[in-house]
Amino acid sequence: MLKIGVLVSGGGSNLQAIIDKIESGYIRNVEIATVVSSKPGVFALERAKKYRIGGTCISRKFFNNIDEYDEALISHFVEHKVELVVMAGFLSILGERFNKYYTNRVINIHPSLIPAFCGKGFYGIIPHRHVLESGVKITGATVHFVELEADTGPIILQKAVYVEEGDTPEILQKRVMEQAEWEILPEAIKLFAENRLVIEGKKVLIKKTAPVLSAASKKYSI
Ligand code: GRF
Repeated sequence: MLKIGVLVSGGGSNLQAIIDKIESGYIRNVEIATVVSSKPGVFALERAKKYRIGGTCISRKFFNNIDEYDEALISHFVEHKVELVVMAGFLSILGERFNKYYTNRVINIHPSLIPAFCGKGFYGIIPHRHVLESGVKITGATVHFVELEADTGPIILQKAVYVEEGDTPEILQKRVMEQAEWEILPEAIKLFAENRLVIEGKKVLIKKTAPVLSAASKKYSI
């Protein structure tokens, strides 16, 4: 059973998409061991509570520096035996200690087709505003492995979404979530759980089938 820890900061619609795909049996052998929010009182924690998933707030504000924050998150996830960390609408920055401890075991959903409309300052509604201002015809979402610099890790999955006449940033954001984010984030977790992801430099190869591993070596290797 792969235990995942989900990091959130807001409404939690991506968390809900993961819960629904586990509840429906589409994703198997995966358990959401804990949900951690960067802010208290967000709706994502309500969603977790409804499915009896342990949720808590660990805010960067509680700590003197990023190292202390990283250590607090690491010890919380280790306590819950988390093997994969999923950033689902998470707006805080994770530091070197966290990235080192969970190397190649942190994935993030970003609401654009990386490398377009991403990086520092591109979060929530902002990428969608820039997409509309730039006049591009296609946007979408990306799931990638996380590295220290925002939105730079090897890309696992992407899904394109057309920009339509009359779109506002809010309308476009909703369509990108519905048509792309809520599909590719659960899919990436499924592929990780099936041991079908191989990182080769900046690329992620998706193996057609899961490798046959002996019980002893059954470890989520990338
Ligand atoms: C999503 O669009 C996500 O890609 C972005 O923030 C939004 C939060 O969505 N990082 P939710 O909290 O999962 O509803």
